[in-house]
Amino acid sequence: MSVEIVEGGHADAVAVLVTQPPQEGLEPPLAELAASGELPGEVGEAVLLHRDGGRLLGVGVGKRDEVNAETLRSAGAAAAAELGRVGGTLEWRLDGTLPLEAADQAAALTEGTIIGGYAPGKWKTRENGGPKEIERIAFSDAAVRAAAERAALLAERTNRARDLANTPPNELYPETLAEAAEALADEHEHLTATVLDPAEMEALGMGALLAVGRGSHNEPRLIVLRYEPPGPTDPNLVLGLVGKAITFDAGGISIKPAGGMDAMKGDMAGGAGTLQGIGAIAALGLPVRALAVIAAAENLPSGHAFRPGDILTAANGKTIEIVNTDAEGRLVLADALWYARREGATHILDLATLTGAMEVALGDLFAGFFANDAAWSERIFAAGERSGDLTWPFPLHPRYRRYVDSTYADMKNASTLRQAGAVLAAEFLREFAGEGPWAHVDMAGPGFLDRGRGDYYRVPGGTGYGVRLIAELASSLA
Ligand code: BES
Ligand code: MN
Ligand code: ZN
Repeated sequence: MSVEIVEGGHADAVAVLVTQPPQEGLEPPLAELAASGELPGEVGEAVLLHRDGGRLLGVGVGKRDEVNAETLRSAGAAAAAELGRVGGTLEWRLDGTLPLEAADQAAALTEGTIIGGYAPGKWKTRENGGPKEIERIAFSDAAVRAAAERAALLAERTNRARDLANTPPNELYPETLAEAAEALADEHEHLTATVLDPAEMEALGMGALLAVGRGSHNEPRLIVLRYEPPGPTDPNLVLGLVGKAITFDAGGISIKPAGGMDAMKGDMAGGAGTLQGIGAIAALGLPVRALAVIAAAENLPSGHAFRPGDILTAANGKTIEIVNTDAEGRLVLADALWYARREGATHILDLATLTGAMEVALGDLFAGFFANDAAWSERIFAAGERSGDLTWPFPLHPRYRRYVDSTYADMKNASTLRQAGAVLAAEFLREFAGEGPWAHVDMAGPGFLDRGRGDYYRVPGGTGYGVRLIAELASSLA
């Protein structure tokens, strides 16, 4: 379903932004509530009132001077939650005194309303069980509607990525993820999908990706999406987007403990963000060539599974000693990164729920990233800030390379040291990133939530992390 951006008037509810302390000149009955100290003004709070046969929503945004896009996204989500029994059309009143331009206010409120209104219970059989959806978002100022439309598109593609991450692993496995990619390509004129099966991967020597997928009856796939717009701004630039899509990560022979293993259906969240991210680029019609390479496999223990002690040869010819089969993400990415370069990617961004260590370091908000190029690093950081998919830089350093040194092979995939697990993984990936700018985003924390975050992500599960980051990054290159 897609949310429409419409003119003001005829809304089922009109939302007014309320600061803390409440601003002067509020209309009744908000003014009366403010006078009695009952008006909620903190970020994430909202109150729904009936007035003259219509609905008025007071939505808190906190201290005026501290209002930013993230605040307004959270305000949008609070409104969506409050309107769960109403749905229909929501009209936003913008506030000219806030430290944010009208178009930016409209975009953030729209994004928050749509992301905040997401309902994860798609597999419940109860009829009419879920909240009612907001179908239209209205602004009286026509000048802000284009920004709101772009925001709605990004938010909807973000929610599509959440659907993929939330889809259970008995429904979503490499083959069905590949079908989703093909369906996406059918939606967009300049987007095409190619899917490599195990025989084709074998021919390319992708021993790392193939090994990870070998333990499951569900075969691995390498999913490739190409976006070739007419008249790209820079015909020599190809944005390479590489995603980890482990559709279920049991850990393989190095099996994980049972507690929380169900959340490992979300270990394809990087791939989902990559897929919907290139979809967003195509939907926006950005004049940037882009290539998405999604490594899809299921990591299970079985009589066919790869083992600790195995030595694999990756597509770039390097040998890898397996120390832990649960360090599988870096293996599938190794072959996908190599393929992205081979297919002409000049600037690479990879997205992966790669290490528990990164989740320990940054929690569920920021993703940590590593880059081999200062200008590329700054671009990723800026795109993170602008988009709301927040990123924070971590170091690569030649002296970390010893972390992946192996006694027997060119490198090993894990270590027994309990040090810098996320850095070790990034140093491993660097061996496969080839020449040219590359950044690795470890989104283990913000990719898939165990609980709501109290901002505009109010429910557990997939977040669609990466879709907005990719769209902002591509916009910055357009
Ligand atoms: N998919 C996991 C990482 C992960 C953990 C993502 C928690 C999201 C939440 C990854 O494949 C993994 O198992 N990593 C291991 C690596 C270790 C064996 C070197 C980890 O981080 O424990
Ligand atoms: Mn794992
Ligand atoms: Zn994993």
